[in-house]
Amino acid sequence: MNVDNSRIFKRLTENRFTTPLFLISLDEIERQYKRLKDAFKGRARVFYAIKSNPDREILGFLAWLGCDFEINTSGELGSVASLGRGCINSAPVKDIESIRVMHRWGVEHFAFDTVGEVEKLALHAPGCYVYPRLSVSNEKSIFELSGKFGMKGNDAVHALDIAKSLGLRPAGVTFHVGSQCRSVSNWQEGIKESARVFKACREKGIELSIVNIGGGFPINYSNNHIGIESIAEPVLKWVNEYFRNNVELWLEPGRFISGPAGMYFTKVIGVKNGNGGHYAYVDGSVFTGLMEALQEQGEFPYRVEVLGKAGKSAKYKVFGQSCDGTDIIFNELSLPELEAGDVVAIYGTGAYSHAYGSRFNGLKVPQIAYLRGRKLTWRK
Ligand SMILES: Cc1ncc(COP(=O)(O)O)c(C=O)c1O
Repeated sequence: MNVDNSRIFKRLTENRFTTPLFLISLDEIERQYKRLKDAFKGRARVFYAIKSNPDREILGFLAWLGCDFEINTSGELGSVASLGRGCINSAPVKDIESIRVMHRWGVEHFAFDTVGEVEKLALHAPGCYVYPRLSVSNEKSIFELSGKFGMKGNDAVHALDIAKSLGLRPAGVTFHVGSQCRSVSNWQEGIKESARVFKACREKGIELSIVNIGGGFPINYSNNHIGIESIAEPVLKWVNEYFRNNVELWLEPGRFISGPAGMYFTKVIGVKNGNGGHYAYVDGSVFTGLMEALQEQGEFPYRVEVLGKAGKSAKYKVFGQSCDGTDIIFNELSLPELEAGDVVAIYGTGAYSHAYGSRFNGLKVPQIAYLRGRKLTWRK
């Protein structure tokens, strides 16, 4: 996001916004969506993983751009039900009520990673399309998912065979390389394994047609990352090599689309300088939108700006406002000299942030403002 943060922040406070608050750039959402489509040469169908940020403005805007959606539970259905776009479910394990509600509403594609889940789907979403979640390497991804979900190729073929015998429709396969993935070879492994499953299924008379390569596409925080073009190009090459392009390619980006669009503004409410170092306390918190800082124990590589101040005069440990000792936003961050009242803008906070916001300690779930061109809007 390339905006004059001080000017925008001033306008928001003039309109009764208080910190912490989120600014979402709809221009950035559009840029990321189009960049992804272009990188994959218009060859892939995009399902935005709404868990990364289910904000209504973002979803409506993406629907308008032609994007489809991936939901995790029936609880997310309400956010996309009226948008008139395609909707799939790629959570490998779901409660029965979720399956029933999604199926009744019209979700047709479901993931699984056990025979037990196939049996559940056969009972509660009869005739639906199914795809197994394959386990693939999540190496070099900030957030690993492979320890929790996924099945081996051979087991997937066996489960698809059972699915067919139970009246379900085997559709393809899916995998997830881990979120903020920095290793292109994870995708290669997934595509290669998918091709093996396709071949083994064909030998059993089961024709598959979809390879859903999930999310995991990385964004540029303040550390090294791989540009989407450097992922899409080899992925398209492997799809050609292993499938002769004879396959539907699906993507489920979350972070890639919503992450760069978000900016978190929080105010310094106290500083402490002593022998132990420099401490800053802000009115934001890991519990009100910065959960990934908690997950990474203060080491998440967000880029930061202190409004109206430049340079780096000291290394600060930055704490959130709650009483919790784990509420550490940055363990050690070089910043200009801070004083109470300074406003800190944290970039790249559009994904896995506001959706986690809680009222722990009586804190405030941040309000959201939207930027489209030069126009600032918000919900009344
Ligand atoms: C099934 C599924 N698809 C897509 C995503 C989105 O991943 P990312 O935000 O890394 O793109 C996730 C994230 O957990 C997921 O579980």
